[in-house]
Amino acid sequence: MKAESDAQTIVARTEIGSARRNTNCNLLHSYAAATRPLARRRESDRASVATSHFPATHPLHYTSFELCRWSTETKMNVGWIDPGLLRDFQAEGTDAYRLCTIEDGWVERFGSDVLLSFKRVLARERLLEELQTWADWVDVHVRRVFARFIPRENERREPPALVVGDPGESLQTVATERYLRFGLDFGTGYSPGLFLDQRENRRYVRHIAPRRLLNCFAYTCSFSVCAACNGASTVNIDLSKKSLTRGRENFALNNLSTIDHRFITDDVQSVLPRLARRGEKFDAIILDPPTFSRSPGGKTFQVQHDFESLLISALAVAERDAHVLVATNCSALGERALEVMARYCLKETRRAATFHRALPLPDFPPRTGASSIWLALR
Ligand SMILES: C[S@@+](CC[C@H](N)C(=O)[O-])C[C@H]1O[C@@H](n2cnc3c(N)ncnc32)[C@H](O)[C@@H]1O
Repeated sequence: MKAESDAQTIVARTEIGSARRNTNCNLLHSYAAATRPLARRRESDRASVATSHFPATHPLHYTSFELCRWSTETKMNVGWIDPGLLRDFQAEGTDAYRLCTIEDGWVERFGSDVLLSFKRVLARERLLEELQTWADWVDVHVRRVFARFIPRENERREPPALVVGDPGESLQTVATERYLRFGLDFGTGYSPGLFLDQRENRRYVRHIAPRRLLNCFAYTCSFSVCAACNGASTVNIDLSKKSLTRGRENFALNNLSTIDHRFITDDVQSVLPRLARRGEKFDAIILDPPTFSRSPGGKTFQVQHDFESLLISALAVAERDAHVLVATNCSALGERALEVMARYCLKETRRAATFHRALPLPDFPPRTGASSIWLALR
């Protein structure tokens, strides 16, 4: 299968720190997939990645949109990704990625559909107009465009609205990431089903090829599909039965049986102690909780308050050499904060680990998307 060869091409990661003897605390890139076109790009390359294909005489010079410049001179990174990156994504079997980021919004591609997210109506109008010019120029076929408002409060979140395309068509579709297929639904919720900022972490799961993966806050089980395609068994926990049903569908979309996989509709905070009591162990654990949630029983999860106890419970079911992903999209918790928290939890549980960070996403400007670190237990 394609996934197996992907994992083998990634070269061994380097240890960059240890909970016991790290001296500089800097999180560096942990695995150098030098053989992969996308992975070759470093942060410092981004300015040239974004502009090298556009000589000043190019017709685009006259268009109204701006190409990416997320170099050091800009504070907020704006613009559309370089067409060279489109070719790289295509070459590696990916058609789901971020197309554009501006201060008040962004545009994502999911197969032939596009999702435009905006904080202000002006940003929506600008992105819509630029998308048309850009898609014509790079020759990308856009079947439909959906748009969603990004409210400050989660309770005001609504499913995206169709703004371009046939309203009679099904709102369900499929996107591909490194040759794996993921179902999308633009009609059921605020998010269509695949978080693009976790792409490199999903790749890392394929790279480490765990035997048993515990996917907490599993959503549509994309991490589990990545593990299962390399032979893992998985346990998926989510409060939402609907999300786990979509997770099963993602297995089916990739011709993966669900026989060796469990789907538990429950609160992660109650399931983890149960798994520990039964002596269950996992060699990979995904912890990517929401900023805030409330279970049907009324119990709340607040990431800044509860992440520590969550990680401590997860460490109780971690094999001696397990890999644990600690991720959040809470803007108040950056990678440094996650690392400090993880060090505290390791000390509390008398465990030791090295820290790793997935490669930066070439389609996301720095400091956008979720923050995450990997713990490699020892
Ligand atoms: C940020 S999403 C997780 C995304 C997922 N890691 C991925 O990359 O596809 C959060 C998920 O956590 C679930 N959730 C929220 N609170 C929960 C809890 N206390 N226990 C279990 N699942 C929870 C939600 O239903 C939602 O599917």
